[in-house]
Amino acid sequence: MLYKYGLIAYSFCFVLFFASVQMSASAQDILINQDESKVPPYILPDPLVRADGKRITSSQQWLQYQRSVMLKLFADNVYGRMPGKPKNMWFKVYSIDSNALQGKAIRKQVTIFFNSTASAPSMDLLLYLPRSAKKPVPVFIGLNFYGNQTIHADSGIHLSTRWVMNDEKLGLVNNVATGASRGKDASKWAVEEVINRGYGLATAYYGDLEPDHPDGWKTGVRTTMKRELSINENEWGAIGAWAWGLSRIMDYLETDAAVDAKKVVITGHSRLGKACLWAAANDQRFAIVVSNNSGEGGAALSKRWFGETIEKINTSFPHWFVAAYKQYNKHPELLPVDQHILLALIAPRPLYVASAAEDLWADPKGEFLSAKNAEPVYALFGKRGLGVTEMPAVDQPVGETIRYHIRTGKHDFTLYDWQQYLDFADKQFGKE
Ligand code: GCU
Repeated sequence: MLYKYGLIAYSFCFVLFFASVQMSASAQDILINQDESKVPPYILPDPLVRADGKRITSSQQWLQYQRSVMLKLFADNVYGRMPGKPKNMWFKVYSIDSNALQGKAIRKQVTIFFNSTASAPSMDLLLYLPRSAKKPVPVFIGLNFYGNQTIHADSGIHLSTRWVMNDEKLGLVNNVATGASRGKDASKWAVEEVINRGYGLATAYYGDLEPDHPDGWKTGVRTTMKRELSINENEWGAIGAWAWGLSRIMDYLETDAAVDAKKVVITGHSRLGKACLWAAANDQRFAIVVSNNSGEGGAALSKRWFGETIEKINTSFPHWFVAAYKQYNKHPELLPVDQHILLALIAPRPLYVASAAEDLWADPKGEFLSAKNAEPVYALFGKRGLGVTEMPAVDQPVGETIRYHIRTGKHDFTLYDWQQYLDFADKQFGKE
């Protein structure tokens, strides 16, 4: 009986909620809060409570039952369905330089073709490996924002010919990258540091998967691969497409004998940090997961009203998530999950969440609390989380299997960040 009334009340909420979504479509102003004293109370869903009210008490129960239930809630309400590996994928290593970066690295460039046709949709992978390596190496992988040639001034990097967002300062003109874009985003990529520490670095341009604008799906994999992957373009969003591409990079790395594919660290900054987390939740081949300033729709809690909101992100970037996510624009409290559960889907794998002190838009405290609230799932596996209840001071990383820092400075991916992630990976891989 109670259950029946519950259902009626629930449906009523939905009616109200759809009505308000309609109203919000014309609303101009989206209220943003960046004042901690104004954060209203909110309730986080408990990842360990099953739909029937029973409690998950073991890692087996989590892995055999609850994990897939939670993953599906994210697919249905936030990111969309994640298709698998295409059947006729193949790789063409089109360039190898064994004497790259002043002899420190091997540079490989690989086209990942998503089907066997001559005009197959593809992505272009750039891979640096430490030349001194005597055995397969662990690798960091992450997508980049403006084309592979922007991550380092190395003139041997293939210049992307894909659509890019215009930015004259970066050498991106008429939606094409010019030679002037070489190395323009290098400050975000500590290539030498990674190589010197004995790791490889794999990256691809996210626009190879889907150009980042509302019509990008028309030329991206959501359209070009829809038949092979048996998925309609509206069943997933751009973040889903980018995340899918990260798994395709992993498919290649598994075939490269110079790579230790059991030791792949997936990372991403900002919107690409969101894609990194969603990729890692779906694909358990990624051994360590690093979210850099991923914010709303990434590591930050969405029910906590601080910084970017669901409504704001869905309005500015209507192509990132599935349509169902827009239902929560005015009512984040009705979302059956929150981002701590996305982080929990990474358990028991090591997870690093990082914020920046001046990046209030990404809600540093919301990222910290999200990591904190993922702890009970890690605890099922006997894994220790942050080890603190309050946010640490700036530049003071905390935690074990879940680690967190808030760096001095702005929304960015800095050398300091890379150094913390390398230390973390060394420790987790027993490399010290
Ligand atoms: C915008 C957006 C964020 C995103 C960021 C980025 O600020 O609102 O959600 O993380 O861009 O990708 O740099």
